[in-house]
Amino acid sequence: MVSTKGKSLEGLLTEFRRFYPSTDFKNNAYITSEEIFKKAEKDPEGFWATYASELTWYKKWEKVLDWDPPHSKWFVGGEINVCYNCVDRHIKNGRRNKAAIIWEGEPGDTKTLTYWDLYREVNKFANVLKKLGVNKGDRVAIYMPMIPEAVIAMLACARIGAIHMAVFGGFSSEALRDRINDCKAKLLITADGGYRRGSLIPLKHDSDYAVKDTPSIENVLIIKRGEFPLRIKKGKDFWWHELADEVDPYCEPESMNSDDSLFILYTSGTTGKPKGVVHSTGGYLTGAYTTSKLIFDMKDQDVFWCTADIGWITGHSYIVYGPLAVGATLFMYEGAPDWPEMDRYWRIIDKYGITIFYTAPTAIRAFMKAGAELIAPYSLETLRLLGSVGEPINPEAWIWYYTNIGKKRCPIVDTWWQTETGMIMITTLPGYHTMKPGHSGFPFPGVSIDILNESGNPVEPDEGGYLVLKQPWPSMLKGIYGDEEKYLEKYWGKWGGKYYFTGDGARRDSEGYLMLLGRVDDVLSIAGHRIGTMEVESALVSHPSVAEAAVVGITHEITGQAIVAFIVLRDNIDKDFDLEDSIREHVSKKIGPIAKPRKVIFSSELPKTRSGKIMRRLLKDIAEGKVLGDTTTLTEPEVIDNLKKQYEVIES
Ligand code: WTA
Repeated sequence: MVSTKGKSLEGLLTEFRRFYPSTDFKNNAYITSEEIFKKAEKDPEGFWATYASELTWYKKWEKVLDWDPPHSKWFVGGEINVCYNCVDRHIKNGRRNKAAIIWEGEPGDTKTLTYWDLYREVNKFANVLKKLGVNKGDRVAIYMPMIPEAVIAMLACARIGAIHMAVFGGFSSEALRDRINDCKAKLLITADGGYRRGSLIPLKHDSDYAVKDTPSIENVLIIKRGEFPLRIKKGKDFWWHELADEVDPYCEPESMNSDDSLFILYTSGTTGKPKGVVHSTGGYLTGAYTTSKLIFDMKDQDVFWCTADIGWITGHSYIVYGPLAVGATLFMYEGAPDWPEMDRYWRIIDKYGITIFYTAPTAIRAFMKAGAELIAPYSLETLRLLGSVGEPINPEAWIWYYTNIGKKRCPIVDTWWQTETGMIMITTLPGYHTMKPGHSGFPFPGVSIDILNESGNPVEPDEGGYLVLKQPWPSMLKGIYGDEEKYLEKYWGKWGGKYYFTGDGARRDSEGYLMLLGRVDDVLSIAGHRIGTMEVESALVSHPSVAEAAVVGITHEITGQAIVAFIVLRDNIDKDFDLEDSIREHVSKKIGPIAKPRKVIFSSELPKTRSGKIMRRLLKDIAEGKVLGDTTTLTEPEVIDNLKKQYEVIES
């Protein structure tokens, strides 16, 4: 093998399979040619202004972009209200009686809100916020299950110019407390509880623990979801349905400056202390709106289902703001995909006629593990487009998704983006591009990226490197709440403020397709070769017995690091004597002997963050036998213990 020492990242995986959108899809899609890319490249500001103009502004901007690196202001001088754009204007444009939100609770209860219903609820909610002393610029914490009121609460904040800060309902009261204290929220909106995998999650009860240590919280507003036990503190805790009866049915939306903050969302990634990512108003909405419309090809007759939780950025941009700004019908589900059985999603898709389905690779791999038989009873015939987000989707998982869910009929958009980017940045456009499994695609029009080596120079085609963003984009984060230094260091420090560093590795092939290689913190370093986790994991997942894989590098005297692979097998696979060898050989054949794992560890599950990302950092600690790191964001902490035990058995 030719020595490639000194390269930033290897490129190992070759993918020859190609998939094309059907003629029918092409004929009806918004984008079917490269015209839009050419236009945006020539005049990115003009491109964004065109789409911003499709929104309703109280006052038009004077300047599209004010770029004072590393801070951008978009649509400077413009005034807009996000809630007005997501709700009020649809009352006037013919969508008054169209379903805005179709919801199903985990126990099976359902609710549909038309745009008019949503308008009425949001107005009352906004007046309740005012009644509780919330003013423009105040921070409001939202700790809710996946119920329509979570969307209503966010929109009501936007209506009065309060800055919402949503916390995933599965997080602990400590996580809630720390986030509230960091942004000094004045009000907490929660529910008595929610349903998850058949259990009651007592959110108000958990909130009480947080609120006793959050001096900034003046009141708590509670939504009634069911019959959950809770304590009401007189004068501080209020029921939404009681206050709703006391307020006016209309609340004038606040005219906001385009650069005012719309929300704060904490992200910790797989490492470190949570950072409060701040997003703007006009720029953010333009980004969420444009990408929703063009990437998901969202039309009036679609029923769009994004399976993310409202507590993540995907929930913000592609449940709430993007789809509602487009005037779409969105579907929302409260509970777990495997409740009561692993077929809940397919049941929902058939029942509600979902047309666009957006989920995460972790879910796709879980379905793959469970087997295609569970899908057989469902037709899934209403689906016309699929999406993936959150982690690289391994080519085999892509093919599985395409074949079993999309029935070889639906294009897949593999969308790369981050909490910080606010909108999808890399993807294919479903009516135009040919798809290559494992490759996310191209920068969205108006987005400018590069792949650099350590010294900050662009790498050659097919060579891996650091993914950076070169130009500001409208939904770019404004900064980290109360921590400018962190903002500068984390995103702009690596090459002296010249580029936004994403923290991800990527590779671009000779046709321009981008493949995401994983977080650069997780890169493996084998005998001078730097290898991204994605390619080795994809090779592992392409073994017929493997459903999910995570690789880490552990210290090795000769090669620097050696690869340890953690494997989840598909259901009903016998772990016979030769399986480990067969898996190791498979990787060697697929991408080369260099990537052959030294050890294979079988596990029933992999440790994940709450948003479903594999925590390789922890696996590395386990593989190296170190003390375990912070496990507060693990889904199933006992998984780690199991893995550790298994590893010890292999070691001995
Ligand atoms: C990863 C989620 C590969 C990536 C919207 C990124 C992806 C991080 C993809 C952001 C994708 C997200 N392919 N990797 N399609 N989408 N990622 O902030 O490492 O929760 O930096 O935002 O997820 O995660 P976050």
